[in-house]
Amino acid sequence: MDEQKPTISVGLQGVYITETKICKVDGNVGRLYYRGYAIDALAKNSNYEEVAYLLIYGNLPKAAELEAFRQQLKEERDLPDFITDIIAKNAEKADPMDILRTCVSALSMSDSYAADQSEAANFKKAIRLISKISSIVATIGRCRDGGDYVEPNKSLGHTENFIYMLKGRDPTPQELKPVEMMYILQAEHSSNASTFSTLVTGSTLADIYSAVTAGIATLKGPLHGGADEEALRMMYAIGDPSNTEQYIEDALAGKKKIMGFGHRVYKAYDPRAKIIKEYLLSIQNNSSDEVAGLTEIALRAEKLMVDKLGQSRGIWPNVDFFAGPVYRSAGIEIELFTPLFAASRIAGWCAHMIEYWRDNKLIRPLEYYTGGLDLNYIPIANR
Ligand code: SDX
Repeated sequence: MDEQKPTISVGLQGVYITETKICKVDGNVGRLYYRGYAIDALAKNSNYEEVAYLLIYGNLPKAAELEAFRQQLKEERDLPDFITDIIAKNAEKADPMDILRTCVSALSMSDSYAADQSEAANFKKAIRLISKISSIVATIGRCRDGGDYVEPNKSLGHTENFIYMLKGRDPTPQELKPVEMMYILQAEHSSNASTFSTLVTGSTLADIYSAVTAGIATLKGPLHGGADEEALRMMYAIGDPSNTEQYIEDALAGKKKIMGFGHRVYKAYDPRAKIIKEYLLSIQNNSSDEVAGLTEIALRAEKLMVDKLGQSRGIWPNVDFFAGPVYRSAGIEIELFTPLFAASRIAGWCAHMIEYWRDNKLIRPLEYYTGGLDLNYIPIANR
């Protein structure tokens, strides 16, 4: 082969695919901005509806704009019967991410605008998706617990209604605060794997349902969104906090990845993990035995990992590490963590898709072929 071997960026590491005004991840210093606003300021002062508006439309809404956006979200909360049927028939045994992916794909069949590629239609579809995905995730959780679909309560805010549909009652402040925080922190993160696959699919000019269905499929994996569930499973496996150090040392010695640590872009502490950890510390003295035990394990694991691999290797906790104990403090079951990640990230996926379509270019990278050529075709009977 006389072709010169090109430089290959394995895993597209270090490759820029487009320009964006949606999100800046400054991985060297551990800073994150949505549309120029630091994540700390948004987590402290904002709410999910406002953050979703910011991501999708590019600016913070005025009061009347936010109210109108909230109203549109509320109007989209109901789920069609064929969606609640899919959930009810499968919730007991199927993986919640599989149900969610199937439902979001199926949603396009009840949208008369599904094939309308105008930007106005895509804004409408984004609102529909942001609203309905939360209802779907809540209903999956409810049906897993043996309950039935709870009609949405249109007097409640977005995350309040999520908990209402999940639990069949109004949320307590102890449930609402962590869920709202996680919705804000997970809403967007530049060209992560699920956003990239959303863009790949959308770049063929497939519709937004197809694009975000690809995003959900990609989020599922434990190297990406699925890590929050795996991190908590590790904490359960550790069991007693006094086992933490030995467990982590053994795992590292066996070359295992510690879920919830490491990141392709952050070589400093993930600012989202910092915010989640601070929240966990703030509730530490008032938490259940389960959450207190998980918190102790999480803090001991974090200390060991940071001492061993933080400064020296750039391996720090990411957004998924402390998520488990925090979600458990809100009474959320482990199998709903990744679906909830999707319910939040849908805002980022839609924002990126709409932005990318303004100057669309088919995404089609290359592979360097290393197999044989011009092989002799042998009929099947002679092989
Ligand atoms: C998310 O991209 C985003 O923005 C994603 C996200 C978002 O908001 O969208 O931030 C959400 O997906 C967070 C990441 C969740 N995944 C995990 O927590 C899984 C555990 N972490 C990793 O497997 C890993 O760190 C990745 C997948 C997140 C990043 O992988 P890279 O960039 O491909 O790096 P790598 O796997 O090649 O690791 C580089 C080195 C290796 O050591 P060497 O072979 O060089 O000796 O770092 C080591 C790895 O072994 N390493 C770890 C580790 N992560 C990396 N060692 C132990 N435990 C870990 N968690």
